[in-house]
Amino acid sequence: MALEYLAKQSMCLMLSMDEIIVNAPNEGERIDPGALFGSQGPFELEIGCGKGGFLLQRAQTHPEVRLLGIEWANKFFLYASDRMFRWKMENVRMMRTDASRFVRDHLPVNCLAALHVYHPDPWPKKRHHKRRLIQTSFADAAVSALLDGAVWLLQTDHAGYYEQMREVLDSHNALLKFDWGTGGWGDGPEWSGTNFEIKYRREGRSIYRAAYRVVK
Ligand SMILES: C[S@@+](CC[C@H](N)C(=O)[O-])C[C@H]1O[C@@H](n2cnc3c(N)ncnc32)[C@H](O)[C@@H]1O
Repeated sequence: MALEYLAKQSMCLMLSMDEIIVNAPNEGERIDPGALFGSQGPFELEIGCGKGGFLLQRAQTHPEVRLLGIEWANKFFLYASDRMFRWKMENVRMMRTDASRFVRDHLPVNCLAALHVYHPDPWPKKRHHKRRLIQTSFADAAVSALLDGAVWLLQTDHAGYYEQMREVLDSHNALLKFDWGTGGWGDGPEWSGTNFEIKYRREGRSIYRAAYRVVK
């Protein structure tokens, strides 16, 4: 009887896949993070969450945080969404859309407590560099969406892309670089690594990281 009751209770708490997966906003629409999660709390975004390893770890260790994972590739999007469902994550929503447009056109001003960008596609060929996510116009849009005092964490295995990230973000007048792993951000017992990070560390590749605080 008690087991039946507990099972019913956990069923009630468990979100369906339809609730975890949220639609991309319509043209001209800005999201309402409170409405997206049905509750208020610090709102964080991970861009290009891939298989969702980081998202899951962050959501589990920080239940007070509301996390939106954005992923463009359908295969990874479905994999990560299913993972959040199986782990019964109440504080995660998943959206399949182009993150650069989403940040620019659909995030309200001053809504994000943290932005996570781990191993964004490096587009190594010079003629493709314009496709990289981290550009000045994207940094301006991201800073507008981030709250004063919010953090932006980035990680890549590509030295050339890291250089570009540093050039763009170090020179931004609303971003102040701080040491990765300080202030409770980045390394620490909670950091289990992103899926790509784990794979690349196994291969002995270097990982480059940067952390910024927003000062408005
Ligand atoms: C190299 S993977 C890294 C995945 C994950 N962050 C990790 O560290 O394991 C980059 C991911 O970003 C996604 N991606 C690239 N551009 C994107 C965009 N504009 N919007 C949303 N996702 C994007 C890709 O589909 C891919 O899954």
